Amino acid sequence: MIQQTLSFIGGGNMAGALIHGLIEDGTDPGRILVAEPDSGRREALAARFGVRTTEDNQEAAGEAAILVLAVKPQVLREVARKLAPVLAQSRPLCISIAAGVRHAALQSWLGDEVPLVRAMPNTPAMLQAGATGLYAPASLDEPRREAAEHVLRAVGLVVWVEEEALMDAVTAVSGSGPAYFFLFMEAMERSAVELGLPPEEARLLVRQTALGAARMALESELDLPALRLGVTSPGGTTEQAIRAFEAGGLRSLVQQAVEAARDRSRELSRELEGE
Ligand SMILES: NC(=O)c1ccc[n+]([C@@H]2O[C@H](COP(=O)([O-])OP(=O)(O)OC[C@H]3O[C@@H](n4cnc5c(N)ncnc54)[C@H](OP(=O)(O)O)[C@@H]3O)[C@@H](O)[C@H]2O)c1
Repeated sequence: MIQQTLSFIGGGNMAGALIHGLIEDGTDPGRILVAEPDSGRREALAARFGVRTTEDNQEAAGEAAILVLAVKPQVLREVARKLAPVLAQSRPLCISIAAGVRHAALQSWLGDEVPLVRAMPNTPAMLQAGATGLYAPASLDEPRREAAEHVLRAVGLVVWVEEEALMDAVTAVSGSGPAYFFLFMEAMERSAVELGLPPEEARLLVRQTALGAARMALESELDLPALRLGVTSPGGTTEQAIRAFEAGGLRSLVQQAVEAARDRSRELSRELEGE
């Protein structure tokens, strides 16, 4: 539960998900202040969550003990530079959820003295089932690390990475990852229909199977190969399917796809910082 004022700069989708999770976790909505330019969105946030809102970023930053930067990466530089004079006074813990904007770049825009954590959440955060990577330099103290972790834990699982370069890997794995599973489910659904199942039944069977497999993978003490072998009887049906996946190069295809995402993440960082 957050006891101090927690402000958001930007009140869009991800801010909404975090606010929802924090309130579910027991944070008093009166402690949350959201700066958002769109009046309709401000009203919607206040009505849905009972949080306070403002159109003034400086006001939100000035009051905050923790400040979540939740604007699009393309506007972050301008937003951060305008906040710098206020932050030099109040020095809240800043948490950036902007994809691709590296710690050093953001630190230089916000000012050197501002404590800063970089976070990479993913869209299942909307259901409090997110997976977030966090990075901060070794100089950031433990209480601030815990505070940042607490905010992101409101929307799911949190892991820290020790080197910032690994945030590109986090982006490629958990950031983009939901889309990989959607693609796989899409292909499974199409195959199910090809095999003659009605579309609605195909839809339900595939999605429930994905959920069941994910829950088994998370909750079982067995590792993934053991879980796979558990449904692969010698001479059975699963064995034939796995053989086809292996023969088609599924593992190296996944490796290539994840590396391509990691490389694009690096490129995007350079583009955002070079603008
Ligand atoms: N969605 C995801 O799955 C996801 C995952 C990982 C990281 N992220 C990161 O989370 C951040 C937010 O993404 P999102 O999906 O929540 O985007 P979003 O829904 O577009 O939210 C951004 C909000 O910021 C507002 N805004 C724009 N300019 C502003 C300014 N100068 N001051 C204050 N607020 C301003 C926008 O208002 P207007 O619409 O009126 O411009 C919008 O309400 C991004 O940096 C993204 O990289 C998102």
